[in-house]
Amino acid sequence: MSDIETLENDLLAKIDAASTEAGLEEVRVAALGKKGAVSERMKTLGKMSPEERKEMGPALNGLKTRIAEAIEARKAALEEAALEARLASETVDVTLPPAPEARGSIHPVSQVTDEITAIFSAMGFSVAEGPDIEDDFHNFTALNFPADHPAREMHDTFFFEPKEDGSRMLLRTHTSPVQIRTMMTEKPPLRIIIPGRTFRCDSDQTHTPMFHQVEGLVIDKETHMGHLKGTLEAFAKAYFEVDSVRTRFRPHFFPFTEPSAEMDIGYERVGNEIRIGQGEKWMEILGCGMVHPNVMRNCGLDPDEYQGFAFGMGVDRLAMLKYGIPDLRDFFAADARWLEHYGFDALDTPSLWAGLSR
Ligand code: PHE
Repeated sequence: MSDIETLENDLLAKIDAASTEAGLEEVRVAALGKKGAVSERMKTLGKMSPEERKEMGPALNGLKTRIAEAIEARKAALEEAALEARLASETVDVTLPPAPEARGSIHPVSQVTDEITAIFSAMGFSVAEGPDIEDDFHNFTALNFPADHPAREMHDTFFFEPKEDGSRMLLRTHTSPVQIRTMMTEKPPLRIIIPGRTFRCDSDQTHTPMFHQVEGLVIDKETHMGHLKGTLEAFAKAYFEVDSVRTRFRPHFFPFTEPSAEMDIGYERVGNEIRIGQGEKWMEILGCGMVHPNVMRNCGLDPDEYQGFAFGMGVDRLAMLKYGIPDLRDFFAADARWLEHYGFDALDTPSLWAGLSR
């Protein structure tokens, strides 16, 4: 066996025996590196006679090429084996929850807004929204508040500095301006609820300067008080998650509804607990009424063709009642301990079929 054949067999055996990529790299350096066995032989070509070189040149070049190819092939095989081993040993359990370590919780205001939305969307309502900063027209005038009428004082309004023309923007005192915005841009029949922030200059255990309402508006032909009562009673049962709720509609005044009412629900106190739905006591939970013909006209609707009802409820108050939270101001104190105690699971979306609150 020639010297070259011996070297080739020896190198091929080493390549074959290399079981890791690092081991293979060592063999490559020992063969083809600057001082490798094959490279050293190539250097001897220069000192050879032309005849010798003619024979040894192709032989050594052939050796170099075959060794390089063998190394490449072995390298590819080792890489593939490594990948196979990884695929076999690593597993992903696709049945695990997406974020098992999820932290934080849903604020009661968000939870209750979602609960109310779930109930009304099951009745065919959709959600509308409007700006927190309103003008006098949408917040008062179009809602049939006469200029300088004391009803405007009912809401302790936050006004902005007057503009050049003397008009003042304000923080909306209720979600009712979105009734106007919707009636002016959409064609009846309308069935919407309007969740959002509202603002009044007030602060005590049950009032904060910023609070939340959900407004409701239905406009259709031949709409009457029976529809209003049926809708709101169904809502109260669903929201408080009880089979029956005693309700009472007490006459009231709002400029934008006629007749107007406040809805009370029956409750009783058993020890520290408030039981909603039964009992001899009454608690007010929302304001409502038939949309005033003037409001319809202000929005370009003919009150002889269309009628409607509207209602507005305080989200924060409904949250306090349902979940037994004593002080409203804590809602907005951003205390992580309070949220941990009163907050809701982020992965449990309220729905009528799976349960509003679990
Ligand atoms: N906007 C009223 C309030 O904030 C509530 C209401 C809405 C009453 C719709 C009747 C109809 O006091």
